[in-house]
Amino acid sequence: MPLLKLTIDNIEVEVEQGTTIMNAARKIGGHVVPPAMCYYSKLEGSGGKCRTCLVKVSQGSFKDNRPMPKLVASCRTLVQDGMVVQNTISPEVIENRRAITEFLLLNHPLDCPVCDQAGECHLQDLSYQNGLEETNTDEARRTFAPIDIGDLIKLNMNRCILCYRCVMVADQITDSRVHGVLGRGDHSEISTLIQNAVDNDFSGNMIDVCPVGALTDKTFRFKSRVWFTRPFDAHRECAKCCGKTVLWMKGEEILRVTGRKDKYGELEEFICNDCRFVFKQPKDWTIEGPRKIERHSVISQNHYEKLDKDENEDKNVE
Ligand code: SF4
Ligand code: FES
Repeated sequence: MPLLKLTIDNIEVEVEQGTTIMNAARKIGGHVVPPAMCYYSKLEGSGGKCRTCLVKVSQGSFKDNRPMPKLVASCRTLVQDGMVVQNTISPEVIENRRAITEFLLLNHPLDCPVCDQAGECHLQDLSYQNGLEETNTDEARRTFAPIDIGDLIKLNMNRCILCYRCVMVADQITDSRVHGVLGRGDHSEISTLIQNAVDNDFSGNMIDVCPVGALTDKTFRFKSRVWFTRPFDAHRECAKCCGKTVLWMKGEEILRVTGRKDKYGELEEFICNDCRFVFKQPKDWTIEGPRKIERHSVISQNHYEKLDKDENEDKNVE
């Protein structure tokens, strides 16, 4: 099949038929890539919920060079040959992204100082990049009491942006799904019927795919700000999953275990609950070395590699 040509922010790229604008932008990389709060490349059917990835198509294709009448979701719109896309160079897109960010924060609590997701929260990053300094509303936010869904995961529905990723993880990689989005519109909420436990070997991945702090690891809650921990790539022989993880350590202690995420914050591979929750001793793991975190976020500010190097150099000088 011939490749399709398009430009995004005046940068030309060629992609295969069936590629979305989002993935074409990811092929270019850098600032051209629209933010994604609901799309997740490893989850089939994801995207189209949050609207943070909207872009302007100023030319539909070589055959039909009319612009598309409205901004389109780049995660769900397929590339046409000759398409011209504007992302960061379109004032309309930037203005829209501000409005969407404000909308996503409409009911979101300002509890980053006590939220375990702070430092690795995509909504936090999005609001730093596109958010308003002040709120336009003084209406009460909708609130829910935090609940346990199973003995390993805490749901804080106040922080949920209804991206559906956790529902798709449960649908696509676990044996059974016992939770979903209940209600519609302003009454929508992630819930399990009569608070059933989410209890299966891969349920912990819901924590990793949640872009905000709505689903958190109960074994790690309030133990440390994430930027005070040191991430290490590690692996173990595992019969259930790939066994490749990141250990988040403080001294010799493993505070939490997560899957490995790429620069878009997506898991490279899903991991099982044994690797995530059971094996918490350094002797359980083969540690490969420090994990490089590719995020424009406070989580990347832990320059311990440099510190270690400096310490060693100091010792050599002594
Ligand atoms: S709990 Fe998290 S992953 Fe699930 S829908 Fe809400 S924001 Fe998305
Ligand atoms: S990432 Fe495209 S709509 Fe959410």
